[in-house]
Order: sequence, then structure tokens, then C-alpha cells
Amino acid sequence: MCGIFGCILKEGDAAPIVHDALKRLEYRGYDSVGEATIHDNKLFIKKDQGKIEEVHALHNLDNLPGRIAIGHTRWATHGAPSMRNAHPHIDCNGQIAVVHNGIIENFSELKKDLEEHGHLFQSKTDSEVVPHLIEEKLKGGLTFLEALRETAKHLEGAFSLAVISVMEPNKIFCIRKESPLIVGIAKNATYCASDIPAIRPLTDKAVTIENGELVVLEDEGYKIWRIADWSRISRNPKIIPWSPEMAEKQGYPHFMLKEIHEQPPSLRNTLRLQEKYLDLMTAFLDRAKDVFLVACGTSYNACLAASYMFSKLALLATHPVIASEFIEQQGRAINIDSTILAVSQSGETADTLSAVEYARLRAATVLGLTNVIGSTLTRISRVYICQQSGPEIGVAATKTFTAQLSVLAQLAFRLAEKRGKVSHEEIEQLEEKLIQIPDIAEIVIQNQKKKIEQIAKKYYSKQCFFFLGRGISSATALEGRLKLLEIAYVPAIAFPAGESKHGPLSLVEKGFPVVFVCPKDENHKTSVGNIMELKARGASIIAIIEEGDEEIKNIADDYIEIVKGVPEVLSPIVYVIPLQFFAYYTVVHRGLDPDRPRNLAKSVTVK
Ligand code: M6R
Repeated sequence: MCGIFGCILKEGDAAPIVHDALKRLEYRGYDSVGEATIHDNKLFIKKDQGKIEEVHALHNLDNLPGRIAIGHTRWATHGAPSMRNAHPHIDCNGQIAVVHNGIIENFSELKKDLEEHGHLFQSKTDSEVVPHLIEEKLKGGLTFLEALRETAKHLEGAFSLAVISVMEPNKIFCIRKESPLIVGIAKNATYCASDIPAIRPLTDKAVTIENGELVVLEDEGYKIWRIADWSRISRNPKIIPWSPEMAEKQGYPHFMLKEIHEQPPSLRNTLRLQEKYLDLMTAFLDRAKDVFLVACGTSYNACLAASYMFSKLALLATHPVIASEFIEQQGRAINIDSTILAVSQSGETADTLSAVEYARLRAATVLGLTNVIGSTLTRISRVYICQQSGPEIGVAATKTFTAQLSVLAQLAFRLAEKRGKVSHEEIEQLEEKLIQIPDIAEIVIQNQKKKIEQIAKKYYSKQCFFFLGRGISSATALEGRLKLLEIAYVPAIAFPAGESKHGPLSLVEKGFPVVFVCPKDENHKTSVGNIMELKARGASIIAIIEEGDEEIKNIADDYIEIVKGVPEVLSPIVYVIPLQFFAYYTVVHRGLDPDRPRNLAKSVTVK
């Protein structure tokens, strides 16, 4: 996830406006920043690695001439944060500048082809193919607009682009496929941006650009075409109903709620990872004698779920270990044959990094899964994968958890296939299902959130909760418990439901709330038995079940239904969503701030 912005002023310098707008887009990415302007038929560019104000302090982003400008704030997906990888990117002749948000899936093939035609690339990004491709199309005698249309047809993936060129010095060209793009209309200016926060203080009139559309901004306003059939689209601006403050959270009252809703697109991004890194990591996992899945907090819960995926699909036993215990628990067993898969959203968690450093000293292989390219974890891992969720601002991890699970599932699928442990057909079916998961997540979010809000209202003042599940659902339960505990300050206990009778059951009395994650999998029958035992002792059961599970509906006090047909190994990705909402609404009913729980930080860089 990155932020793009563009601006055509009737008069005055555009650069300071772009600089300010990028600050409002910083929540979309903040590892690099850049701006390009056009003045006197020349392109002027400033860009560098670092947060906007750091780059501004070094380069003065306001000091670029021209009334037309584009800008970019980056969250790296391809190529570590660096000056070269920062946007805007240009063609060989320095006549076209491009900013891009999204992922160009076929960039390797395009780059190879363009290099064969003599193009020289400056960066390691996927985005740089765009100015070179436009340049190549122009060589064939097309107009700039035609070249852009042809370029768009060759790009696969998700992207929104803003392009300026000395060949068309009074215009900004934009293209949208999936990644968001809006146009803002003011009296003396026209803008384009990834998102409303960027333009909201400048205007309250916006046009949403739809998938597969190309838009040209000029002094007189904007023109939209549908790329596929080159038909002109007429669309009037609408009034933005949000104040500038509300716009930052896209109208949601909290970042956590916004990020829960961002899970469908974030899950779609995980399906666009580069195959070669997934394959490389799979090869290392396949070769390993012992595999340790090392992480803290939510990332540990993802590892726990992954241990079920690896053993059920690839018949590979792995050891999920809480990072702060890794050295004590496993240290002496680590050697050259060990592989450590460290999972960390931030890539900076001190406990995870010290486990990794220790493993490296003992010559183990380190693999990393993180959301932050350029983080310490990416620098010390032999192979790393970036989950591409974009920045997560709420302290409680939500969209990054489900994205971690999606990546780990993809690794498990590949490993299963490589090891020949599961039939090709079965893997294909699972892959098909994984592709449907973002849509299923969307349905759960839209259909169930009202009901979960009501359930949270009923239980928000309870003093203590159990979160239970069996099999892989015990990892889902653990994550649901962490969400409630960390943001609502409600003591909560999670354990595999089979453990109840070995101690925790003594806590249960009339009205004791138990959240039970109970998909219709191999454990269903036993889970029903556990629910009956709890009910017999007076527990109130809130069950997360598969749609139409009448057996549990009849015994639970409250239930949330999840769309049918989610395979067991993928169930945590969807079944955790009601638990995220449950924690969120409990916090709201308790009058607390879910984004800033006391005593906690987003990234824990001390041991
Ligand atoms: O950045 P990491 O994934 O390494 O962070 C690990 C934990 O600190 C993190 O998951 C924490 O538990 C969150 N607050 C959970 O919501």
C-alpha cells in the first residue's frame, strides 16, 4: 500500500500542496517519499528514503518549480526502501514521471522484454516498468494518450498510476485497476489521490474513478475513458460527507475498525506475492530437519495455526515457539540443520530478533515473514516474504494476522505438493478456496457485524471470558482472546477445549461467558460434547459456527454464522473476524480507545 497524489493549479507552485497532501497519506506508507513537477518543459524530481519530514529536512520538498506535480509516499513491496526505489520513476530520457500504488504482477516479464529493447532500469521496483513501457509505446508513433492506454492493457495486477510528461506539460494522466483513485475538483485546481484524506482540506468535491478507467486532469477539469472499449464516461463530482478528521480514518471512528474492514483487499494482496520467493522458502522448509516457527503475540498465534497447516497438509512437524522463550526452550537444540521461520508484522520485535540472531550464530537457516520491507528481519533473513498488508496503525493486529495466515497457508500448500503428500487435486481445490477467502471475509464483515455488536453489548461488562476451540481453531481462539484482553482489559483465558476438564472448568459458574470457535470440521462432534459440559455448569455460550449448524444453534446462547465450505486449514482466516469485532465493540461499550490500549506499543523493540 502506498499513497499517490497529483495536482494541477491554475497558478502558483504545486510542490508545497503535494508535500502537505502526502503527509495526510502517510498512513498508507512512510518508508520513502518523492515529488515530480513540470516547469518550462522540464521535469524536476526530489525523492529519498525516509519519512516525509526527514526527506523534507534534507531536500526541501517545497522547493520545486511548476504548477503541475505528482507525489508519492511509499510502503515497499518490491525493492527495499532506498532513494533509487523511491517514486517517481522515470523513462530512459527523463521525460515521463510515474507514481504508482499497488503491485504489477507481471513486471518481471515486462522488465525482461524492455531490457531486451535497450531500456535501462534504475530501481528494483515493479513500478519502473510503467514509464519505460509508455516510452516504448511512444516509439511506435502513438499519441501520449494512446501509449498510456496500450500500457494499461499490458499491466497485470492492482494499480493506480499518476503520470506526467514534458510531452503533455499541462496534464496529469491517471489509471485505475483495483487500487483506489479519486479526483478532487476545486475552483482553482484539480487533484488526484489514492484517498479522500489527501484532498479533503482542499475541496469537498470528489469523483471516484472506477476499475479499468483512465482519467486526464487538466485546467478545465477532467475527462474519463473506459480503457477496454475507449468509451467516454461522464461522471459528476459528489460532495464528500466527511470532515478532514473523519477522512483520515475513511469515516470509521477508529483505525482498528477501518483495518478490520480492510481485510478483503489485504487478503487479495497476499494472493499476488511473487512465486519465486514462495518457492524458495518452500525449498528451504522442505530441506530442513527441524522447523521452528518463532514469533510474539498475534504473530505467534499465526505460527500456531501454521503448525496445523504444515502437519495436516505437508506432514511436516514444526515447533511454534514464543520468541522470548526460544533460547531457553530450544537454544541448545539449534544447529546447522535447523530452520527458523520468524514471523513479525513489524520485523522489529526485539524478542523475535534476538531469537533469530541466536539461531544465526548457531548456523541455522533463517526465513522471515514480515509486513515491512527494509525492517531488521528482512535484513537478517536468508529469504523473506513481505505480506503486503500496508501500514497497520491500530495497536491490535487485525488485517496483518489474516494476511500472515494466508501467506503461511500458501507455503503449506506448496510444501504439500512438493513433498507429494497430498494429491494435486486436493491442493488445487484448496488454492481455489484461498482465492475465494477475500470474498468470504467480505460477506462475514458485511452480514455479521451488526449481530456481533449486539452480542458484545450483552456481554461487555462480564469480568472474565474463556475462548475455546479444538484443532486449528484453538489458535483462532487464542487470537480472539488476545484481542479482547489487550484492548478491552478483560481477563480472558484461551486453551484447546479438550483441556477444560483438566482444570479450567472449575472457574465456570452460572452465566460465565465462553466464546467457542466451532467450524464443522473433524472436531465438531467433540466440540459439541465440550459445549454440553460447559452448559451443564451454567456457562453462556457464544459460538462461532458454520452457517446452518442447527445442532449448535440449539444449544448456544448466541451464535455467529460463517459462510459454508471454508476448509479447516483456512478457517482461522475467516473465523477470527467475528472475534476481532467482538473485542472492538466490547471496547466501544466500555468507553475505551481501541487504537491506543494502555501500556502497549505497536512495535515492541525492547526485550
Ligand atoms: O510486529 P510483530 O508481529 O513482531 O509484533 C508482535 C506482537 O507485539 C504483536 O502481535 C502484539 O501482540 C499485538 N499488539 C497484537 O495485537
